[in-house]
Amino acid sequence: MKYDFSTRIRQVNPSATQQIADKAKELSQRGEDVISLGVGEPDFDTPVEVKECAKEALDDGFVHYTSTKGIRELREEIVGKLEEENQIDAGIEDVLVTPGGKFSIFLVCQAFLDENDEAILFDPAWVSYDECVKLAGAEPVWSETNANLKPDLEDFKDKINDSTSLVILNSPCNPTGQVYDESTIKAVTEIARENNCLVMSDEIYEKIIYEKEHYSPGSEYDNVITVNGFSKTFSMTGWRLGYTVAEEEVIDEMKKIQQHSVSCPTSFAQKGAVCAYKNKEIESKLEGMVLKYRKRRDTLLKGLKSLDIECTKPEGGFYAFPYIGTDSFKVSEELLDKCHIGVTPGKAFGDGGKGYIRISYAQSEERIKEAIERIRKTELEYI
Ligand SMILES: Cc1ncc(COP(=O)(O)O)c(C=O)c1O
Repeated sequence: MKYDFSTRIRQVNPSATQQIADKAKELSQRGEDVISLGVGEPDFDTPVEVKECAKEALDDGFVHYTSTKGIRELREEIVGKLEEENQIDAGIEDVLVTPGGKFSIFLVCQAFLDENDEAILFDPAWVSYDECVKLAGAEPVWSETNANLKPDLEDFKDKINDSTSLVILNSPCNPTGQVYDESTIKAVTEIARENNCLVMSDEIYEKIIYEKEHYSPGSEYDNVITVNGFSKTFSMTGWRLGYTVAEEEVIDEMKKIQQHSVSCPTSFAQKGAVCAYKNKEIESKLEGMVLKYRKRRDTLLKGLKSLDIECTKPEGGFYAFPYIGTDSFKVSEELLDKCHIGVTPGKAFGDGGKGYIRISYAQSEERIKEAIERIRKTELEYI
């Protein structure tokens, strides 16, 4: 059979982060000791309290479809969290719970982008933004970041135009680990507003932050749609739960697509997520987790420095984005082949990532140290 795939699907690239992870998995399966610094996934377990709530829900027979927007109880918790932590004033009808934050992003793109529309991403940007924009038929436009990997506002002003419908902000940022200042986020949002343009603020890493404070533009601006989720904060990647916060009119449009695609997020997973926000004891566990990430970051930075590899200090998330100066795909392949270390080529995140690699430090300190030693001891062509 000669398949005639749609133009839409043909222009979408497979996830580059996944490709390296697959290759690393293959090596592991062959019995090699691979240090995986490629995937964007916490190595911690989901808090036991969250698991217990989901188990209870299963035992109680909470196994059927829920309302498309997500259970009321969870949306109430989200509304409380938004008010308390993000100063975002939302009602329960302004929240759509989705199967993963990624699906929220997909839905925002579907709801607002038409053919010939443009969506601005700050280069480098997380791999799925570009593809979600393209799946909506629109054109991704890359706005430059400066030497510190923060948005270059002058370039942004040059890139925004009448065709721009959406600006995607992500702080703390995947892949760079940079946290944007409140003033930068405000400036981007205001420029977007002057151009009648929406900002999608992806705040999925908001809790994994070190020296800086997180700022949510949705607290002050009406042209902001906020996306968040449970994957990173609560180590719940496999539960697939995220959410979008926007005016009810927006949520109702997005809801239509959710209704006709996935129906609703998984019922018992939502009960677990209620507990994640409700149980205040989990908060102290999170603090411990962030401390560990911070120590790992410091260990990694020290190691990179000892190898003379330049790296802008990451301020949040669990990614470092060191500059290696040569072809990032070749470097990543060489690290996997010769050192059995899985990293992600920076170029996968846009042209701005050329010459960089993304290292995920969601790994134990011992493994991070070992990775540094493997690099030190190996004769590498590209580093
Ligand atoms: C920047 C960013 N946004 C959103 C997501 C989506 O996470 P999930 O769909 O697991 O909620 C990810 C996951 O890697 C991410 O890195």
